[in-house]
Amino acid sequence: MGPGDAAMSFVVENGVPALLAVLKEDLLRRAIDTVPLRDERDAILHAWPTPRLSSATLAPGRLPACHYLDKAVAAAASGPARRTAEAISPVRDALQWRYDYPLQPRWPDLASRMAFAPIIAAPGLMDADGVHLGLTLMAPHTHYPLHSHPAVELYLVLAGNAAWRVEGRPFAPQPPGALILHQSGIGHAMTTDAEPLLAVYFWRGDLVTAPAYIDER
Ligand SMILES: [Fe+2]
Repeated sequence: MGPGDAAMSFVVENGVPALLAVLKEDLLRRAIDTVPLRDERDAILHAWPTPRLSSATLAPGRLPACHYLDKAVAAAASGPARRTAEAISPVRDALQWRYDYPLQPRWPDLASRMAFAPIIAAPGLMDADGVHLGLTLMAPHTHYPLHSHPAVELYLVLAGNAAWRVEGRPFAPQPPGALILHQSGIGHAMTTDAEPLLAVYFWRGDLVTAPAYIDER
């Protein structure tokens, strides 16, 4: 371990708990008008992660979609989730951007249009029981196809006015500050327009099973 590693560890061990504290306040502040959304927000707050050093870490890394990170963070910093966006900045260089879906001929460019940064996860910056969370970044004019996973997922939009769809319902625009609920096993998709999307995802329940693409209906 070199001096650079020690500096990065210091950044992570201080920056991640600070980000969590701000995120918790951010979730508490959101106006929520549906019972399922409020119940999930409350369940996440109840199971709020206590971060510990991760036994499975990744090297910091960037993907092509990270080209849009500066623009998305700048937009987030002037939006309703400003304080969360600011709390991401200290750990930004430590983020381990990745795209884990198996490559599919139907969507050959998705690995260069989308990126995910696990913050509380294994592997991730830090680990915890109960709730995992991280960032989703999408380039402009990108369709994240219908996919599902057993984990219940709550999204907090930081930047970008993408169209969001839950299986069986039409696409709906979701502005920065919006919370979006994806129930266990229910397909969901997002499409960006001219702006990149930056959002925080929270996972609760089955934290192990990876998402999988499903046929668009
Ligand atoms: Fe999801």
